[in-house]
Amino acid sequence: GIGIGPLRKETGAVTYDPGFMNTANAKSSITYIDGDEGILRYRGYPIEQLAEKSSYLEVAYLLINGELPTKGQLDNFVAQVERRTLLDERFKRLFDGFPRDGHPMAVLQAGVSGLSTFYQDSLDPFDEEQVRISAVRLLAKLPTMAAYAHRIAQGHALLYPDNRLSLIENFLRLTFGFPVEEYVADSVVVRAMEQLLILHADHEQNCSTSAVRLVGSAQANLFTSISAGIGALSGPAHGGANAAVMEMLDQIQAGGMDPRDFMEKVKRKEDGIRLMGFGHRVYKNYDPRARIVKKIADDVLERLGVHDERLELAMKLEEIALKDDYFVERRLYPNVDFYTGIIYKAIGFPTEMFTVLFAIGRLPGWIAQWEEMIHDPETKIGRPRQIYTGHAERAYTEMSERT
Ligand code: ACO
Repeated sequence: GIGIGPLRKETGAVTYDPGFMNTANAKSSITYIDGDEGILRYRGYPIEQLAEKSSYLEVAYLLINGELPTKGQLDNFVAQVERRTLLDERFKRLFDGFPRDGHPMAVLQAGVSGLSTFYQDSLDPFDEEQVRISAVRLLAKLPTMAAYAHRIAQGHALLYPDNRLSLIENFLRLTFGFPVEEYVADSVVVRAMEQLLILHADHEQNCSTSAVRLVGSAQANLFTSISAGIGALSGPAHGGANAAVMEMLDQIQAGGMDPRDFMEKVKRKEDGIRLMGFGHRVYKNYDPRARIVKKIADDVLERLGVHDERLELAMKLEEIALKDDYFVERRLYPNVDFYTGIIYKAIGFPTEMFTVLFAIGRLPGWIAQWEEMIHDPETKIGRPRQIYTGHAERAYTEMSERT
């Protein structure tokens, strides 16, 4: 709607659009979504093809540079990233200071923000070489920090990365290499992780990406902008949904509740509960990523010989929803996170780490979007207007006269 507030003389009419339901903040050539058809493409390539054929770092290159790399370009990019996974020894000690029960997303956000104190040589948003090296550092070090956030919670010593391993193998070893360092990641698990990260790599102007762009529009450096994105992603309505799905499934199971009864409670909006992992601001059809995730869940559980009743429970909830008018009329379908938690659990990640994995996945998209924003001559500092609803002018009340 259009609102005309008391600031009328100064602003004229302003568009009132809470949640930016109908406001485009950027022109972007990175990611295309057709929410009605359930289509997702990065730089024109369908998500299904990228998930099947590509690697996480190849997709990162594509998102950031706009084109798929040649073999030489990819080898060079991967080598640049994989040799930078170590953290400065002083920086590593930062992680010892956090309490064991601190949320790993908070640790990650603090860590990324802290990177700017170690890399003051690469903070100029308008210097392309500095931005390139900051992006490489982020891609290399975020998985290391994520693994450290996990190990703090476990009370385990922090390991050093082994740069003979690939980025993902290294991440799994840094996370799970306990008590001995010789951890060999299962090839199906490594491939599943690559695919899950690819599926999360970008999703145009979602909440965390918008946060990254908004902070960056003030010309804050890349590290600071990305740390804002991690903060946004931690919310349960966004990246925190993957953990919320698992908690929901656990609660249904622990309470011995019939899935149909649970769905009735959701429909009655009892205590404001929602079917977590369902619904999306843009997809009003099956989220194309959810289909791929379901297949990965089957592969990983079979390979690891895990039987998780929560997978059957989730499938049952989906089956009920797809036939129920409440969900059909509102066009609520599973989103990317409905099945991811079951895979992460099977691999061994605790629930608190799920959103951290999402952050690693989304990092290439944040970087690409931030760079696009910085180079766009039409970028202005993000500064929405408001409809003022407060008091008109009034005189200061002395303390003695207040009641
Ligand atoms: N369960 C039950 N009802 C729902 C759900 C749900 N998961 N999602 C939406 N609805 C209902 C709302 O109650 C509302 O009903 P009403 O018309 O009777 O009031 C209607 O559907 C529209 O919902 P909105 O909240 O207006 O839709 P919006 O686009 O703002 O919300 C969101 C999208 C936040 C994703 C929402 O669907 C939700 O809360 N889902 C659960 C959390 C979740 O899975 N988040 C992950 C998002 S994807 C991601 O970040 C990867």
